[in-house]
This record gives sequence, C-alpha cells and structure tokens, in this order.
Amino acid sequence: MTTRSVAAAGALRGSVQVPGDKSASHRALLLSALASGRSTITGLSRADDVRATGVIAGQLGAEVTYSESVVTVEGPTLGLRAANEPLDCGNSGTTMRLVAGLVSGIAGTHVLIGDSSLSRRPMDRVAIPLTLMGATVSGQGVSVTAPLKVIGSRELHAIDYHLPVSSAQVKSSILLAGLAATTKVIVREDVRTRSTTEDMLLRAGVSVESTNLADGRIVELEPSRPQATTWIIPGDPSQAAFFAVLGAIHTDAEIEILNIDSSPERNGFIQVLQRMAAQLSISSTDTGISLRSVSSKLTATEILSSEIPSVDEVPALTVAAAAANGVSVFRDMGELRVKESDRFASSMELAAALGCRTWSESDDFFIEGVGGAKHFNSFDFDGRSDHRMVMSSAIAGAAGYGCRITGAQTVSSSYPLFFDDLAALQ
Ligand code: S3P
Repeated sequence: MTTRSVAAAGALRGSVQVPGDKSASHRALLLSALASGRSTITGLSRADDVRATGVIAGQLGAEVTYSESVVTVEGPTLGLRAANEPLDCGNSGTTMRLVAGLVSGIAGTHVLIGDSSLSRRPMDRVAIPLTLMGATVSGQGVSVTAPLKVIGSRELHAIDYHLPVSSAQVKSSILLAGLAATTKVIVREDVRTRSTTEDMLLRAGVSVESTNLADGRIVELEPSRPQATTWIIPGDPSQAAFFAVLGAIHTDAEIEILNIDSSPERNGFIQVLQRMAAQLSISSTDTGISLRSVSSKLTATEILSSEIPSVDEVPALTVAAAAANGVSVFRDMGELRVKESDRFASSMELAAALGCRTWSESDDFFIEGVGGAKHFNSFDFDGRSDHRMVMSSAIAGAAGYGCRITGAQTVSSSYPLFFDDLAALQ
C-alpha cells in the first residue's frame, strides 16, 4: 500500500493530455484480436486495466506488440481459440464483462479471474443474457461473482434483450457474443449508454444499426467477423472530469484539457458543471473536444444518474458539490455501490472528510457544500483500491489544504501518470 501526500497547490496553470479513452482502448484490442490480420492502435491507454485486456487477447491467440506510440495487433486467420490457463482481468470490470461475451463465442472452456475488488462485483448481469444465447456461464453465489467459468460455442442463438440495468458493459458483452450468433442480435436500453462498441464495430465493417428512442435506444447487430483496421483513440473524458473539477474549485486555476472524446453519453459532467456555474468552455479539435476550466464560484445542483449513465464522473462531481454553495442532490445512484468500491458510501465519506454535511435516502445522496475549497479540511482518505476515489480525493486535497491517501498506487488501473500530470500544472 502506498500512502501519498498531496499538498495544497498554489496557482494551477497549463494543459493536460489525459490518457487514451479506456473504453475505446479495451474494444480496439478485442476487435483487432477477433479480426484476421494486422490492426494498428494509436493512443491506446497504457493503464493496467487495458494491459489486462491486451494480455488476454494474446492468450486467446492474437499477437499484441507494443511500441511507444503505436500498438499492433495481429488477429489469427483461423480465429481466436480457448486458452489453457485462466484469463486474469485484474481490477477491470470492463475486461471481465467484455471478455465473458467474446469467449462465449469461442468453443471451449474459459476461466476468468480478477483481484479481490473485481471478485466482489456482480457478473449475473452478463451471465444471464450470455446463457440465454447458449453459452454456459457459472460463478460464485447469487450474483455470479468471479472466478467465472464460461463454456463457449461457435453457434450462439439470437437474442432480443432488454437491459435491466443501464450498462454499456452488458450491452457490449452481448454484442461481442452476438458476433458468433446465427442471426440478428437485438439489445434494448432505457438510458442511452456510451455507444463505443457500436461505433467501433461499424468501423470494423460489422453491420450494426442504432435507433434512438425518446429515452433509450435499440441496437441491432448482424453477426459477422470484424475486419482489421486502424484505430485512433481520443482522450478519456472520465479522466478529464478530474481536471475540469479541479480548475473550477481551485481559487487560482486555468487548466486546459486537450483532445477528449466528444460523445454525448460521456460528457454529461460538462453540463452538470456548467449548471453549477463553472466557467468551463469547450472547443472542437480534429479528434474531439478540448476543455478550459478556470476558477469559479459553484452553486449546488440536482444530478440525475441518467445524465452520467456510467456514473464514472460522480466521485469527481461530489468534490465539486462539496465546494459549492448549497445542497446538491445526486439521484438514483445505486450503481455506484457495485463499482471498484462502494462509491455511494465512499463519495459521501470523502465529502464528509472535507467538512460537508452529507445524508442519503434510498439511492439518492445529498451533499451540503462548504462554499468554496478554501473551507475544505485537510484530511486522510483510504483509497479502497479504487482509482477514481483516489483521484477525487487528490483533487480535493490540491484545491484545499492537502491530504494523505492510502492505496494511492491504484491510479495505475486507469491513469498511471495522474500524479505527474497533476504536479505538472503547479
Ligand atoms: C464502461 C462502462 C461503464 C463504466 C466503465 C467503463 C465501458 O460501466 O463505469 O468505467 O467501457 O463499457 P457500466 O457499463 O457498468 O455502466
């Protein structure tokens, strides 16, 4: 366990290029592995979670070669095959859920394992639809936690599935399994989650049709093998959120965050911060958008989980709410409880450590802001093997009066150079 001290930052100036989008990075590796021949990936995230996916692609028969700027994946002509050792997904829920779908379409027995945090997370959400498609998926207990055993088949059934939880990971797991189905696969979602898989399948030549409904979306996929292609990965909006919040709550900040993905399902945090009166501006770039975040006086707001479908940016927004004037309400945040840690509890705990009054009612929680980071406490925080909780506490410490974080090394799950990028702004 590494305990790390974060000092209060003086002025914050400069620009930060956050890592390549983690979601797109996992999918680029997996789709390239499924294709026949050589794909190249520029801007791949070098985080531990993505590295776990790359190792698994190799175990299944693809050849993954890393160089400084480009990663090359050679997909086997005859297709992927079962590995004879366990597939280690580390701390990465995306790896486990996407790989469970992918190996459902590969004949043989696959064992998926993860670290202690991942081994507590529910996998029934993928086990149920994958079993309906003809794979056999078993795990531990009622929520089917890892280790998982997946028995795959080259001839999965078609499925028309209404997602009971809004989850891009579950949708993607079904679509990846669907590539090995005999006919069309349909996934219906009530909230539009990130469309990374659909967009990237299209780019790889697979026929996927998305129809937006008033509130949700229907995705229809015609099974086929993805084609090898070139991938260019934009910056990760979920990582940009930490610097956007930091710029807004620090009393002397002007931070630019360069070239992030512009997908609407990923950028809800921008609207939330603007609603809180953050001076956060957006400019278009060739590959997405850049943000500029400057010191602001924030006001409280009401945040619905449907605005931030993955709830990934909620811990960072909790820090914004802690610095705001008034009571912010986070509605329908139950999914936070089954992330890398129980982020429902740990976000509230972080706000309380900063000096806020906090309370919850069912799946909603409330943060009474202290009216500026200059009123934050200096604090100690247990990072709980959760990269986003570590980064959220670090920005709170930098904007206020410093903090000490236990388990800070866990940022390597998604953002190995986070503390370097934070230091470079000072
Ligand atoms: C992800 C989807 C989200 C998100 C995770 C990445 C993805 O999870 O929290 O960080 O790449 O599909 P859910 O699909 O469970 O919301």
